[in-house]
Amino acid sequence: AVLLAVDLVEKAIQENPSLNLGAATGGTMEPIYGELARRVKKGSISLRNIKTFQLDEYFPIAPTHPQSYRSFLMKHLVETTDASPENLYVPDGAASDPAAACEEWERIMCENPIALQLHGIGVNGHIAFIEPRKNPTREIFSMRTSLEELTFSTLQSNSRFFKPGEVQPTRAITVGMGTLLESVAHFVLVAFGKEKSAAVARVAASRLGLVFAGPKRGATRPVRGDGGSGHLELSASFKFVDV
Ligand code: F6R
Repeated sequence: AVLLAVDLVEKAIQENPSLNLGAATGGTMEPIYGELARRVKKGSISLRNIKTFQLDEYFPIAPTHPQSYRSFLMKHLVETTDASPENLYVPDGAASDPAAACEEWERIMCENPIALQLHGIGVNGHIAFIEPRKNPTREIFSMRTSLEELTFSTLQSNSRFFKPGEVQPTRAITVGMGTLLESVAHFVLVAFGKEKSAAVARVAASRLGLVFAGPKRGATRPVRGDGGSGHLELSASFKFVDV
């Protein structure tokens, strides 16, 4: 699955060496960025001219905090490849006015269409930090970048990244699904592990139909598809890729 996801990134960069790449963070992304770094070292691809746009950032958090998503991307993508730190865009988790930071992120997404967006998924089914809703079809598809309260499930699962004594923020600025649907041309969603299979099945069965993951332990299915048209009936355009 890692190789397949990175193949898609590599192909997209071959087609456009200065594309906008949508980044995610978390455990799922570590081997993906690791493989990307190997290919950059080997010389098969270069990230020098790409711009990277991260889905979300904790709030409040200093950009230099070891658990900020900016720090994650600096460590796993910028320091290990030829990607430039000036081309790394992350929502401002240290903003004094989070509503203004969300608006600014909407502007950035609008001006920088994403060729390919990498996604993981939370155990509870969150994508980016868009937490599950009681009425997803009504709320999620029109959602813009916003400050989201993280659920107990998300906080619990991400607490593994925080060292004792490090305060874990309980909110995050996250891109909205409406924003993504307008901005992103291709989605690549990756999930590992049995504990994600229920979330994946739920998302796969939902209108977004954006997904992967298998019933078999450790099985992974990245899913890709066209999402750039901005309309809601995306499931038909997603291809499921078994690996
Ligand atoms: C992180 C993000 C999240 C993660 C999800 C899975 O930028 O957008 O949606 O993809 O929380 O995290 P891991 O891979 O750590 O299980």
